[in-house]
Amino acid sequence: MVHPRRLSRMSVVSLCLLGGSAVAVGAAATTGCVARTPGVRRSAPRPRGRPPASAPAHAPDVAADGATLRETAEKAGLLVGTAVNDWQLPVNPAYREVLAREFNYVTPENCMKWGEIEKRRGEPDYERGDELVTFAEAHGMKVKGHALLWHQMLPGWVNRLPPDELRTAIDKHIREVVGHWKGRIIAWDVVNEAFEDNGEFRAQPFFSKLGEDYIAHAFQVAHEADPAALLFYNDYNAEGVGPKADAVAALAKRLRERGVPISGIGLQMHLDGAQPATRTDLPREIAGNMARLAALGLLVNVSEMDVRIRGTPGSDADRFALQSDIYRAVAAACRAQPRCHGLTLWGFTDAHSWVDGFFGPDDPLPFDEQYRRKPAFYGLREAIARTPR
Ligand code: G3I
Repeated sequence: MVHPRRLSRMSVVSLCLLGGSAVAVGAAATTGCVARTPGVRRSAPRPRGRPPASAPAHAPDVAADGATLRETAEKAGLLVGTAVNDWQLPVNPAYREVLAREFNYVTPENCMKWGEIEKRRGEPDYERGDELVTFAEAHGMKVKGHALLWHQMLPGWVNRLPPDELRTAIDKHIREVVGHWKGRIIAWDVVNEAFEDNGEFRAQPFFSKLGEDYIAHAFQVAHEADPAALLFYNDYNAEGVGPKADAVAALAKRLRERGVPISGIGLQMHLDGAQPATRTDLPREIAGNMARLAALGLLVNVSEMDVRIRGTPGSDADRFALQSDIYRAVAAACRAQPRCHGLTLWGFTDAHSWVDGFFGPDDPLPFDEQYRRKPAFYGLREAIARTPR
């Protein structure tokens, strides 16, 4: 899905790398210096940015409010994560504080996409990705890279390549990007959103020029670039039952039978609370689909969860309670499935969600615009803490 960006572009400062480790973040002392990696183009030092006026100066105090999601997940042996808005990370102390406090797993929302890394052909810019990986390492967090091949946010020149040059460009892109963070990123979304909702392959350049085999090839190249990394196929509207979920499962089966190094499936989980099925049938269907994928020897993860509640009935309290029930049910389905190793939100605060720009103003995440815990937070925490494996 391509979605108009919700926020205007934030100018940012870079984290300063001192002695190979990031300056302490949280109430960070950040300046414009970044360690230079030979042979990699660096964009000019960005002007000092600042958090949006709406951002709280400090993260809300939660000392008396029980365990964090991170503490709860680590007790349960689960990764709990979020997409990271890489423009907020370097300039917003409250954002960084909640991020490090509540999560042990991070996914870049945009900065590792091909169109963000290689805006200029042959001049990859890893700076924002480096900032995220360095922050994660400084806070004992694991990183999932996103996304090596996606038909959206591609550099313009990629779409214009003839098949043989496209395959060469794909190989080079995957080898360079996975190689750049080899050993520092534990998992990659290798191929993202290859199917239409009807289960047919999406008619986009990778498929139309190279056929289905571009998928197996991408996994093979990524595995060669970092044999230790977990490699995922990632998609939306394939979480429960339906033609798209069936197509994803069938693809995964074909790849496994060919010995293609695919580790798992990312179920994005962009849910709409206004759809009755989300509240009734979906949790059971998700559990069944997770079991089907696990039976293929695959990991499953919830990779991009948010729950829209715009258009749901009742008061705000009713809507947030419904939202909490949905987060709780999905987290319970993940916890009940031994092969579900991670649950990632697509952002954590309503202040920074792609949903507003694409679907209209909404409150889809477990923390509000002031980074305060919502009922959805407690629903998630309860399910992660309680569901027996
Ligand atoms: O980098 C440019 C910048 O140079 C330019 O000034 C600015 C103008 O608005 O746009 C910037 O690019 C934006 C990008 O986010 C990074 O900020 C794109 O316009 C905007 O379309 C893009 O939106 C992202 C969208 O993917 C498309 O890549 C959303 O933030 C992001 O949440 C969304 O995430 C996707 C997952 O990757 C895949 N699954 C679905 C999910 C939601 O669509």
